[in-house]
Amino acid sequence: MRLILTLMVLLSITLSANNLNTCKSCHPTIYNEFEQSYHKKSTVKYDKVHKAVWDKHPSKMEEDYTCAKCHAPEETKDTAHKGITCISCHTIIDIEKHTESNKNIYETKDKTLYSAQKGMEDQKIIYKEKSSMFGLVKDVTGSPYHDIDYTNKNFYTGKICMGCHSHKQNEKKFNVCTTDLAGAKNEKSNCITCHMPQVLGSSTTIRQSKTHAFHGFAGVRNSPELLAKYVDISYQALDNEFEIIVHNKAPHNLLIHPLRIVKLKTVLKRDGKSEELRTHTFMKIIGTDGKPSMPWLATEIVKDNMIKGDEKRSIKFDKALKSGDEIEVVLGYHIVNPKVVKSLGLEDEKELYKFIILKSSYFKIK
Ligand code: HEC
Ligand code: HEC
Ligand code: HEC
Ligand code: HEC
Ligand code: HEC
Repeated sequence: MRLILTLMVLLSITLSANNLNTCKSCHPTIYNEFEQSYHKKSTVKYDKVHKAVWDKHPSKMEEDYTCAKCHAPEETKDTAHKGITCISCHTIIDIEKHTESNKNIYETKDKTLYSAQKGMEDQKIIYKEKSSMFGLVKDVTGSPYHDIDYTNKNFYTGKICMGCHSHKQNEKKFNVCTTDLAGAKNEKSNCITCHMPQVLGSSTTIRQSKTHAFHGFAGVRNSPELLAKYVDISYQALDNEFEIIVHNKAPHNLLIHPLRIVKLKTVLKRDGKSEELRTHTFMKIIGTDGKPSMPWLATEIVKDNMIKGDEKRSIKFDKALKSGDEIEVVLGYHIVNPKVVKSLGLEDEKELYKFIILKSSYFKIK
């Protein structure tokens, strides 16, 4: 039965070698997670924010979709809006540094995929079948569809993410977006360990494993709850005031994209009454002449109080705490800063600027 299934799968593969549904047949769990990710939804077809910004972009007039380099690396006329695919990552050999934005160097040999696996760092797996007991038992190594090369160091440090995520300059030579390299240097903690944590479910149908690397890519738009543990919230009572301390354990700005805004909301409960204390906001706004602007016009940072990588930010409240007080703190964000929603024509897309909770904490004062 297994053999027949495999043969059927192989047959459908040869019929449609470039169709990513082929990956689905042997990696259904990973494939389904990927469908929900903003790598899959990275184009104007699925991402309304991306579309809204692209619609205002000067290159739109010439239909010169320069965003494709990162948002749809396999973009050609017939694969329009396919977004990022399995192949866009698993065939990256190396990253070339450039000032404007980095460049992925892709493998051109057919069906060679790169990946990472502990204990396999020096191995290349070529598919093999060994029959024993007159062909009744088959011992299978590797994948019948592709070879796997585990020797690419970039898959162990997160450097493979940096072709697209490192930085992007506009035509005025201003960096509109940057992710610190610090997160792509070591094997213990990096882009992959945080954004692709091991979750339950087999990585292939052919060889069972208990867990696999999450391919929904936890972030702002999908599964932020998987990242909550990288933010700590604590408090400290001081003489005539108190402070809330937000520890961002990510190696990069708490949020990176200039459209985002982070908010800290605090409620103090005392003697049965709730008082909403001041809401604090954190953002990095780019623009020109001291005013916010669209990214292609920006020449400077207009405002930047974003919580930085590995920072412990203290936020002071002008109130002395008493025994029995309770504090509720909520740290969250808007995908699109409500102040720019209108200028992007997104006012009907309520889910894009609603407040999303990343972490909440509760303290009772002894
Ligand atoms: C016919 C089944 C089959 C198809 C189709 C298939 N794979 Fe695989 N793949 C496997 C098997 C089996 C393994 C595990 C090999 C092993 O553990 O030795 C694997 C392993 C992998 C790995 C490495 C996993 C690791 O251990 O780190 C990657 C990456 C991968 N596949 C990606 C893909 C992509 C992308 C596609 C579609 C282009 C695809 N596969 C299509 C069967 C398949
Ligand atoms: C060098 C690679 C690169 C290029 C080129 C690029 N982007 Fe992006 N873009 C990214 C990355 C990486 C992210 C995710 C960053 C984040 O979430 O902080 C992103 C995110 C975005 C977002 C936020 C999407 C969301 O879901 O909220 C918008 C909007 C956007 N890009 C617009 C554009 C437009 C328009 C272009 C072309 C004019 C473009 N980008 C070109 C890499 C790129
Ligand atoms: C220690 C864990 C950790 C590491 C390492 C890490 N991140 Fe993050 N990342 C976070 C947290 C926490 C957030 C904020 C919460 C959220 O996005 O919901 C985040 C957010 C992001 C976002 C969304 C930002 C936005 O404004 O849309 C992107 C994109 C991202 N990280 C990419 C990367 C890349 C690329 C690397 C490697 C260079 C990396 N991260 C390393 C924890 C980590
Ligand atoms: C944005 C880049 C990226 C994309 C897109 C991507 N992968 Fe992966 N994938 C990785 C990285 C990095 C790893 C190694 C994870 C690790 O070592 O924890 C990985 C691991 C895997 C593994 C092994 C998982 C495990 O834990 O054993 C398989 C199988 C796989 N990918 C298949 C796919 C398939 C199928 C698709 C498309 C549906 C896909 N990948 C899309 C980056 C990507
Ligand atoms: C081919 C380019 C490319 C590569 C390689 C790539 N990314 Fe991305 N990534 C993007 C783009 C573009 C977006 C923004 C998509 C959008 O929202 O429209 C994005 C968005 C994200 C987000 C935000 C998701 C969310 O829900 O907010 C995270 C997290 C992320 N990437 C992590 C990674 C990690 C980890 C790697 C390496 C394993 C990686 N990316 C490799 C292009 C890439």
